[in-house]
Amino acid sequence: MRCAMKYASLSTEQLIERESKAVIQTYTRQPVSLARGSGAVVWDLEGREYLDFVAGIAVNSVGHCHPLVVEAIKRQSEKLIHTSNLYYTENQVLLAEELNELSGMKRAFFCNSGAESVEAALKLARRATRKSGIVAAERSFHGRTLGALGTTYKPAYREPFEPLCEANFVPYNDIEALKSAVGSQTGAVILEPVQGEAGVYVGRDDYLRAARQICDDAECLLIFDEVQTGFGRTGKWFGKEHSGVMPDIMTLAKALAGGLPMGAMLAAETVSESFQRGDHASTFGGGALVSAAALATIEALRTERLVERSAELGEYLRQELQKLDPLEVRGRGLMVGLDLQADCKQLVTRALDRGVLLNNTGEHTIRLVPPLVVSREQIDRVVKVIGESLSQA
Ligand SMILES: Cc1ncc(COP(=O)(O)O)c(C=O)c1O
Repeated sequence: MRCAMKYASLSTEQLIERESKAVIQTYTRQPVSLARGSGAVVWDLEGREYLDFVAGIAVNSVGHCHPLVVEAIKRQSEKLIHTSNLYYTENQVLLAEELNELSGMKRAFFCNSGAESVEAALKLARRATRKSGIVAAERSFHGRTLGALGTTYKPAYREPFEPLCEANFVPYNDIEALKSAVGSQTGAVILEPVQGEAGVYVGRDDYLRAARQICDDAECLLIFDEVQTGFGRTGKWFGKEHSGVMPDIMTLAKALAGGLPMGAMLAAETVSESFQRGDHASTFGGGALVSAAALATIEALRTERLVERSAELGEYLRQELQKLDPLEVRGRGLMVGLDLQADCKQLVTRALDRGVLLNNTGEHTIRLVPPLVVSREQIDRVVKVIGESLSQA
């Protein structure tokens, strides 16, 4: 009874007021509290409906509360939630096998977020090559923990926390710049196949292939950060498939467990063998509950052909957005960047008022990453709302 009273529902206004006092203020939030979701739709505390083209920042790929994921969480939570990595967990092993099969990589390490998967990748690269230099791309985003932050480009994120183990940053999609930056002390090159946080910039296939060759020539590792591009987001299971390049290490998170926090680092066989027992660990990594959710997420992606759907509907979305006469539309699958002359922060607010959740990654850029279960009609509605919001501007 006390518990129920303590967690009584608040209005959005009350929540905003109490959050400002109880939570460390690191986020700029929209004035909305989301309470419920299904597919590509969410409802706020007051019952208002929104079409969700943010999807938990490319997390809710199978849609909100997918029945297979909900059922798997319910079933597993009644059996076992957590035990630790001191013991074997069946779901973790099944998931590792599934991810290796899907990606063509050979071994998995489990953690709890994208930044953690990048940390694991950077540690493994250093252990495997005994070289500490990292080359990363300008506009990259690889996370906010100290190691990952050193490979994240935006100076405003990095500078308050210097000194960091800082990467050597080179312009993205520039083969010559990459070639010049990689040297005898380079342990790894880390790249997103499509840069997400920057506003959806697609890595050219010839660039990613050249990156593979440059790494081979310099005997350093190629890390693909697929935290955002993984699990069908770009219209293929993984972003790397567009170029056909196999990295030595891949990082995953976001959509992996249908909304539960989970990360994974996948590695090639010989590289993975450099990690000795005790070299890296995570208390929660690959727990029974999140692994069950991830297995169900993969099943949903597969049975509902959501990867193919992402390719088809992504093309449709880009084609419809072109009709708004934007500065540029970019992307692959349902990972789309839209550059507009208009103030995109204002546009996000206007769209919110019209029942559409959008995210701007810059003053003039909107990133659209809807659930892959989105329908054509829902895409039509969002494009219409963006058009109306632009006319209002
Ligand atoms: C490519 C990429 N890597 C890493 C991260 C960090 O993930 P997390 O926020 O789960 O730590 C993100 C998050 O947006 C990302 O897009």
